Amino acid sequence: MVVKVDVQSSLSSTGAPSRQMHDGILIVDYGSQYTHLIGRRIRELHVYSEIVPHTAVVQAIQERKPRGLILSGGPASVYDPGVPDIDPVVFDAGIPVLGICYGMHLIAHVLGGRVDRGDHQEYGPATVSHMGSEDLLARMPESFTVWMSHGDLVAVPPPGFRVLASTPNTSVAAMGDPERRLYGVQFHPEVTHTLRGKTVLRNFLFQICGCRPSWRMSTYIEESIAEIRALVAQDQAICAVSGGVDSTVAAALAYRALGEQLTCIFINNGLLRLNEADETTMALRSFLGPSLRCVDASERFLSRLAGVVDPEEKRRRIGETFIRVFEDEATTLGDVPWLVQGTLYPDVIESATGHQTAGKIKTHHNVGGLPEDLRFRLIEPLRYLFKDEVRQLGRELGVPESILQCQPFPGPGLAVRLLGEVTRGRLAVLRRADAIVREELEHSPIAHRLSQYFAVLTDQRSVGVMGDGRTYGSVIAIRAVSTTDFMTAEALVLPAQTQMRLATRLVNEVPEINRIVYDITSKPPATIEWE
Ligand code: XMP
Repeated sequence: MVVKVDVQSSLSSTGAPSRQMHDGILIVDYGSQYTHLIGRRIRELHVYSEIVPHTAVVQAIQERKPRGLILSGGPASVYDPGVPDIDPVVFDAGIPVLGICYGMHLIAHVLGGRVDRGDHQEYGPATVSHMGSEDLLARMPESFTVWMSHGDLVAVPPPGFRVLASTPNTSVAAMGDPERRLYGVQFHPEVTHTLRGKTVLRNFLFQICGCRPSWRMSTYIEESIAEIRALVAQDQAICAVSGGVDSTVAAALAYRALGEQLTCIFINNGLLRLNEADETTMALRSFLGPSLRCVDASERFLSRLAGVVDPEEKRRRIGETFIRVFEDEATTLGDVPWLVQGTLYPDVIESATGHQTAGKIKTHHNVGGLPEDLRFRLIEPLRYLFKDEVRQLGRELGVPESILQCQPFPGPGLAVRLLGEVTRGRLAVLRRADAIVREELEHSPIAHRLSQYFAVLTDQRSVGVMGDGRTYGSVIAIRAVSTTDFMTAEALVLPAQTQMRLATRLVNEVPEINRIVYDITSKPPATIEWE
């Protein structure tokens, strides 16, 4: 069953997209940590944008016909050997270009200016004064605060360019050649620390490139539907749906496009929370209708987990079982060439630029994480969207708010919140404890500050006393964190009353439990999940 994924269109997973952009901007990625933010800001201004690797820029211009190019920043220095480069033909294509930081250095270097290594790295806020600019810096105050993050700087702009702005440390903080519509800024207009950075981007998009602010989520829906239909034609497609935001919205969009040609598979792995399998299938059915197929594979998963205590091994077996179950289901459907996946924009950027977390921290097995050697061709209709845009899209497609606002729940489910062996009995204890923890915290005075909360069944037992008797029961840990990006998180202090209610309810309602502890660790050094 090994057929490589085909590249068919901008919705499919890899390679150069083939669709022309009507009013769009290509962002050329040179490895900046801020590249994805540029894309986001442009969408906020209702202009369509896509990120392309710097190696594919010439081909992308020919195929996509963008209104403008933005060259991102990046960690390299133009004088280092083998650094990311740009073909000078790009500057003769008649397309406006804005270089940001390293992108600006490249413009200067390639077009005959001079880039110097900075005497010292400039990192953080700086005050820029501008010399009057009718285009790029139009409507900007005479001086404004910007965010700098660079070592090298442009000492002499290329012929034809003039200096548009400077700071006390950077004589060329912005430069431009209005004739050729080529511009560079040393600062980062895409970060919020650059005050009114959006005005700079707005000037570039509307005044210089002539884009129209016509991009809307409804446009995205229409275009995606047309594209999915064109790709799939008369074929069948399949989609694994977990009830999480990404896979659900991808499924909803694909269902709009394909109707009966789509089968959505919801796999109950036996590791879901209390009543979750029923509630999720009911919610999914409300907008996926007859395309939804529910598979109860609990037995298969739990038997694969028997006797396993190592967290990585648990994750590995769950991931593998998921794929096997999914393949078996797909086989019963006959010839299904297409697989719909809810891959998001940040995932695409991460894999395109190789910005993956060094070292293996945890193996993640998601419905979005099916391996590429499955026999399907991929359709990834969310691959240009950020999480909040996906929620917006879901809303327009009628996905219930309970799904769009749900807390993240790991693919391996309760198995990673249950330390030691996964058994039906221990799962039942955890399910009841977790339901109580979620119910109490949902109604606690700090609920609005909590991003994720749940119970963990530890593999520790402790001695207690209940009535006149000694007990030797389970220890439950409570995790409740606040985070914006789930990369870092802090444990919040629970109000005393909430603590008391939790302690009382957990031991009274779940007899197997006789001790409750609270996890006060932040991430890092801990992770949010315990395994
Ligand atoms: P950690 O535990 O790594 O979790 O701090 C960060 C966020 O990711 C979620 N998580 C997962 N999500 N599949 C997922 O889809 C997984 O295997 C997985 N493991 C952790 C976790 O709940 C938290 O929100």
